[in-house]
Amino acid sequence: MEANAPKRKEPRKALRIKVISMGNAEVGKSCIIKRYCEKRFVPKYLATIGIDYGVTKVQIRDREIKVNIFDMAGHPFFYEVRNEFYKDTQGVILVYDVSQKESFDALDAWLAEMKQELGPHGNMDNVVFVVCANKIDCTKHRSVDESEGRLWAESRGFLYFETSAQTGEGINEMFQTFYSAIIDLCDNGGRRPASSMGVGFTKEQADAIRRIRNSKDSWDMLGVKPGATRDEVNKAYRKLAVLLHPDKCVAPGSEDAFKAVVNARTALLKNIK
Ligand code: GTP
Ligand code: MG
Repeated sequence: MEANAPKRKEPRKALRIKVISMGNAEVGKSCIIKRYCEKRFVPKYLATIGIDYGVTKVQIRDREIKVNIFDMAGHPFFYEVRNEFYKDTQGVILVYDVSQKESFDALDAWLAEMKQELGPHGNMDNVVFVVCANKIDCTKHRSVDESEGRLWAESRGFLYFETSAQTGEGINEMFQTFYSAIIDLCDNGGRRPASSMGVGFTKEQADAIRRIRNSKDSWDMLGVKPGATRDEVNKAYRKLAVLLHPDKCVAPGSEDAFKAVVNARTALLKNIK
């Protein structure tokens, strides 16, 4: 009798997670959170003092999750306050302002700060990171384009979203995907599922694209010394062409990098006898 009785589905307990925001002062961390939780935008800058804490309940797929959000102050002055909040975090919202290149360049330093605070036993691989390229409504002043931001994020296995806390663009989608990835992490025993790690391109490809974007001239772009011979130029070109050919490389920005390399080679060969 017992064996044939229909199984009663126990309601699953709400999942509790801890999420933090990181990124330079004034990039829009608090506004992104406010836009999602309160559906509003405050144009006046009210700097976060140390840490703002809030709890919110959300329903993602069939799961209820209770999110503890620690919204950090980005100003260096508050380092002493925020440094103890890094531990036991399942998700990080890492924000930069697309019109402030320094805030994008600072992302590595934010990761380094977190790593340092977690100490030698902390593991950042088992944290879900979402990078928000924020203030995309400021189109006139944009100084970091999508492929550059996406490349930085995806080459590290991070999620990437273009957002505007002002218009709301990308915000809901970003949070839904972010929370969903955290649920997958928790269901996988707190480890990032292997399927979310593969990005479809190699570090060598990502590094080459970054180097090409930042090169100062055609010699530098091909990675040869000024005055290099035709053979040296062709050899360097072939290596990069194989690495970045659009048929083979899916890394963000690879098509532009490939075109730039073709143009650099043409320009150099014109002037080499
Ligand atoms: P700290 O708390 O000092 O670390 O800054 P924060 O990153 O929390 O920045 P905050 O959310 O307070 O926003 C800073 C300023 O940018 C405010 O004046 C916001 O109104 C403005 N802002 C935030 N998001 C956007 C956006 O998407 N577009 C535009 N145009 N302005 C934004
Ligand atoms: Mg803030």
